[in-house]
Amino acid sequence: MPKAKQAVDSLTEAQARDELEKLAQEIAGHDKRYHAEDAPTISDAEYDALRRRNLAIEQRFPELVREDSPSRRVGAPVSEKFEKVRHKVPMLSLDNAFSDEDVVDFVARIRRYLKLDADAPVAMTAEPKIDGLSLSLRYEKGRLVSAATRGDGQEGENVTANARAVTDIPNVLDGEPPEVIEVRGEVYMTHADFFALNKRQEEAGKQTYVNPRNTAAGSLRQLDSSVTAARPLKFFAYAWGEVSDMPSDTQTGMVAALERYGFRVNDLMKRCESAEALLAQYRMIEEKRATLPYDIDGVVYKVDDLALQQRLGFVSRSPRWAIAHKFPAEKATTILNGIDIQVGRTGALTPVARLEPVTVGGVVVTNATLHNAEEIERLGVMIGDTVTVQRAGDVIPQILGVIEEKRPADAQAFEFPSVCPCELKTPVVREGIGSGVEGVVRRCSGEFACPFQRVEHLRHFVSRRAFDIDGLGDKQIEFFFNDPDLPVKAPGDIFTLARRDADNLKKLKDKEGWGATSAANLFDAIEARRSIALERVIYALGIRHVGEQTAKTLARAYGSWQEFHDAVLAVANGDAQAREEMDALDDIGDAVIDSLAHYFGEAHNRELVEALAGEIDVQEAERPTMDSPVAGKTIVFTGALERMSRDEAKAMAERLGAKVAGSVSKKTDLVVAGPGAGSKLKKAADLGVEVIDEDAWFERVGA
Ligand code: IVH
Repeated sequence: MPKAKQAVDSLTEAQARDELEKLAQEIAGHDKRYHAEDAPTISDAEYDALRRRNLAIEQRFPELVREDSPSRRVGAPVSEKFEKVRHKVPMLSLDNAFSDEDVVDFVARIRRYLKLDADAPVAMTAEPKIDGLSLSLRYEKGRLVSAATRGDGQEGENVTANARAVTDIPNVLDGEPPEVIEVRGEVYMTHADFFALNKRQEEAGKQTYVNPRNTAAGSLRQLDSSVTAARPLKFFAYAWGEVSDMPSDTQTGMVAALERYGFRVNDLMKRCESAEALLAQYRMIEEKRATLPYDIDGVVYKVDDLALQQRLGFVSRSPRWAIAHKFPAEKATTILNGIDIQVGRTGALTPVARLEPVTVGGVVVTNATLHNAEEIERLGVMIGDTVTVQRAGDVIPQILGVIEEKRPADAQAFEFPSVCPCELKTPVVREGIGSGVEGVVRRCSGEFACPFQRVEHLRHFVSRRAFDIDGLGDKQIEFFFNDPDLPVKAPGDIFTLARRDADNLKKLKDKEGWGATSAANLFDAIEARRSIALERVIYALGIRHVGEQTAKTLARAYGSWQEFHDAVLAVANGDAQAREEMDALDDIGDAVIDSLAHYFGEAHNRELVEALAGEIDVQEAERPTMDSPVAGKTIVFTGALERMSRDEAKAMAERLGAKVAGSVSKKTDLVVAGPGAGSKLKKAADLGVEVIDEDAWFERVGA
C-alpha cells in the first residue's frame, strides 16, 4: 500500500520544495518509459494522479515552480506558430568536400591562410556528420532557458517547450557550467525508434514518415509539445554559440566539457594531425556507417585549436576552419517517362526529367534535373530510356547515364523548344558568353511579361532569405497570382492584400482552402514584414547576379533605401561617377552593375519598385559602428606580408569595421606595406596617404 500523501494545504514550504523535486524526477522517469521506451510501469490513472498533485502543490506555491517542472514539460500551451529568435552568434553551415583531394586542399588552404609551413602539424578533429537538424540550447546558471532551430542561420524558431520534452536534453546541467552557455548539436532519431514509430502510426491509421531525419524535424516542430514528448528524439552536442567563460581552448576540450555537463557526445570523434589521419578516420567511420543505429551523411573535420579557428573566421556562411566530407551519393536505376521544361525566375529554361518513382537512399525520387540541352545531348538520353539517378544530400537528384541495352524500340528523342512554354510563346534566346560563343542557357525573352517568370519572382520575393513571410509559400503565391478577387501580380500587391480584402465582398476567409484563422494569420505575418532590412529588400527583388552577399554589400555601402535607389538610378542613367563608386565596392563588378542598370533601366521594373517602396518601411542598414581604430577606414594592403596571409589581413580589417580596397585612390585612408611594395606605395606618397608596415598595423589594431 502506498503511504497516504500529506494534504497539500498542510505542507510547509520546505516540504513542498522537496516534493516538487521528487515529482519532477518521478514523472520524467515515467514519461521516458512511456514515450521513449514504450514500457510504462504505472497505470494512466496513477500517472495522472502524480501530475495533479504536482499541479496542486505548484498552485499553492507558485514561486516554487521548477524550470524542469512536468507542468512545463508536456502539454505546454499550444502556440499558433513559433516565435522567431535571432541567434546572438549565427549558426553556420559547412562547406562540402567530395573527394580525398578536396580534403588535402582544405588542409593546405588552412596552412596557407595561417602562413604555416607546409609540413607544420595542424591538429584537427574528425567526427560523423549526423543527419538530423541542428538546435541551439541556451543555458543560464545551468538551467535551460531557451531552444531555437537553426532557421536561416541568423534567425530560428523558438522551440523551447518542445526541447524540454526531449529526454536527451538536460533541463539542468551537471558539473560546473559557465554562467551562460549555448550548446549546439543535432536532434535525430534512431532507426529502431523510427521504425517503431512508423509501425505505431500505421496501426493507428495515421500518417507514416519517409526517413528518420524528416521525422525528427517534424517532431521537433510540433505546435503541441506533448506530441514531441511522445516522439523518441535524441541529441548529440558538438558545438556552441555564446559562452560567458570558455571551459577549454580546443574543440576536443570543449566537447569533453559538454559531456561533463550531461550531454551525449559522439564517441567516433578523433583528433588527427594530418590530412592522411583525417582520411583514415573517414574510412573507419564509413565502414561503420551501416551498423550505426542512426543516419550519418559524412564526416566533419574541424581545426582543434580555438585560437586558430578564431583567426580563420568564416566566409559568408561557412567557417574556414571546418568542412564536411560527404559520403558518395546513392544511386538507383529507373525509367525516364518524359521531359518537362521549367521556367525559372531569370527566364532560364531548365529541362526536368520525369521519372518512374524510385527509392534512392530512402527517399522517393520522381524528378531529376537535366540542366540544359547540352546535358541531354551529352547523356544521349531518350524518353523511355532506363537511366541511373543519383541523389546526394539535399541536392536535386541528377541523371548520371543511360543504360543503352535497355532502350525500347519506341524511345523518343527530345527536342528542345524554341519558344517559352508560357502562353505568350516568346522566343527563346541564347546569350553570348563572349568572343561570339553562345552560352548553354536558353532564356525566355519575355522577362516580366512571362507569367512563369512573374510567379517565380514572387516566390523568390517571399522566400526565406528574402521577405520570409510565414504562410506565404509557393502554393499560396500561385493561388494569389491566379485569384481574380485578390490578385497578386507584383511584390507591392502583397502589402495591399489586407486592405483589398476588407473592401471586397468576397472575403479570403470564405475561399476554398482558407479560413478565418489562416487568413488573419497571413495578414498578420505580412504586416510583421512591412518593416524590413535593406539587404533583404535588395535581395528580394531577384535581380540577376544580385545574390544575398551582394545585397548585403550594397546595403552596407549605401545605408538607406533612398541612397541605394538614387545610386542605381544614376548608374542606370549612365552616370559615370556613380558607376565608379559602385565598382569600388568589394566583390561588385561589371556583371552586377550591368544587371542593376538593366533592371532599373526598365520602366516596368521601376514602377514595381516604387509601388513596393510606397508600402514598406525599409530599415537603415547597420554600418560598422565598432570603436576600433580602423572602423570606417579604407585600407590597402600591398607588398609581401609576413605574419599573415593577404586573405587573413583582409578578413581581419573587415572584422574591425574597415573596408579593404585593391588600389590606392583619394579615398584610401591607410596603406599597409610589406617588403617589395611598388607602384601602390608611390601612389600613396603622391596622394599623401599614410603608410605603415605590418608590425605597426598589429600595434595599431592591438592584436
Ligand atoms: S559543426 C560551424 N558538426 O551539418 C559549424 N555540424 O552543414 C557548425 N551537422 O547545420 C556545425 N553533424 O546541422 C557540425 N558533427 C557535426 C555535425 C554538424 C551534423 C550539421 C549541422 C549543420 C550542418 C552544416
